[in-house]
Amino acid sequence: MARITYITHDGKPYEVEAAPGSTVMENAVRNDVPGIDAECGGACACATCHVYVDPAWAEAVGPAEPMEEDMLDFAFDVKPNSRLSCQIRVTPELDGLVVRIPERQS
Ligand code: FES
Repeated sequence: MARITYITHDGKPYEVEAAPGSTVMENAVRNDVPGIDAECGGACACATCHVYVDPAWAEAVGPAEPMEEDMLDFAFDVKPNSRLSCQIRVTPELDGLVVRIPERQS
């Protein structure tokens, strides 16, 4: 399992245990973390699962694929560390991952 901490825009942390192979989005939805809408269910087609990867984790998480980059254009307040959480697959190496949730998704 990998522990993921989601921090809401107002600073509230939510820690969840995530199974390898699941996505960062799925674990947020499953654990009622507020602020991740995930309207398309993880198909990289809505940009409502937008998160900011903590800079300390950027390298471990890796960059977005081109399709995700295109979809991020539709997200609110995109930053260099923006990712779509449905496109981040949990691995044991991501144990301790911290992501922040934007104030709104669109
Ligand atoms: Fe729709 Fe991630 S859930 S793009």
